[in-house]
Amino acid sequence: MSKTTRPSAAPRRSKSTAPAAPSGASLHIRPVCRGDLNAVIEMDAMVTGIAKRDYWNSLFKRYADAVATGQHFLVATSGSEVIGFVIGEVRDWEFGSPPCGWVFAIDVRPDARLLGAATQLLQSLCQSFKRAGVNKVRTLLSRENTLILSFFRSQGKMIGPFIPLEMDIEP
Ligand SMILES: CC(C)(COP(=O)(O)OP(=O)(O)OC[C@H]1O[C@@H](n2cnc3c(N)ncnc32)[C@H](O)[C@@H]1OP(=O)(O)O)[C@@H](O)C(=O)NCCC(=O)NCCS
Repeated sequence: MSKTTRPSAAPRRSKSTAPAAPSGASLHIRPVCRGDLNAVIEMDAMVTGIAKRDYWNSLFKRYADAVATGQHFLVATSGSEVIGFVIGEVRDWEFGSPPCGWVFAIDVRPDARLLGAATQLLQSLCQSFKRAGVNKVRTLLSRENTLILSFFRSQGKMIGPFIPLEMDIEP
């Protein structure tokens, strides 16, 4: 995958060093709390162009404090600022597959990218999946979104054994 879309001014880092966050504070990964929601909604609106307050409120209700049922909503913070988030859950026997972890959404604020935040978010999520006893993590992405594809490839994800199918439902 070509990396020509990478911002030229982006700082490079060694995989072995802990990344510095934009403000210079170190990154911290923790479960989401109600006070983080505005930052998450703003970040999502920045990336998708649509503010979906009701959607995020309902997602928060379902995923916050739902670790016991295998659902995880984590945020990355730098100092007091939320700079990224990831959402995922363990699903049992869906699509006929043994229990595995699914990543539904991952986003990092544009001014905090290429510093390892998404890598740390995904690693924390995978640790939680591992604790839940699963050893496979899957996701689904738009084939046009080469940025997210580059990220997941960098983490070792490969094309899986499933193909998505869809059709229009007649009115
Ligand atoms: C994809 C995204 C989550 C990556 O976040 P990030 O914190 O910048 O990622 P990291 O710093 O952990 O990068 C890890 C690796 O991903 C790859 N990567 C990240 N950004 C990249 C870019 N712009 N171009 C090419 N490769 C890239 C690199 O291999 C990188 O490792 P390296 O820096 O050692 O080369 C972030 O760019 C983002 O939020 N994009 C929008 C996401 C989106 O579209 N979400 C909607 C669908 S869920």
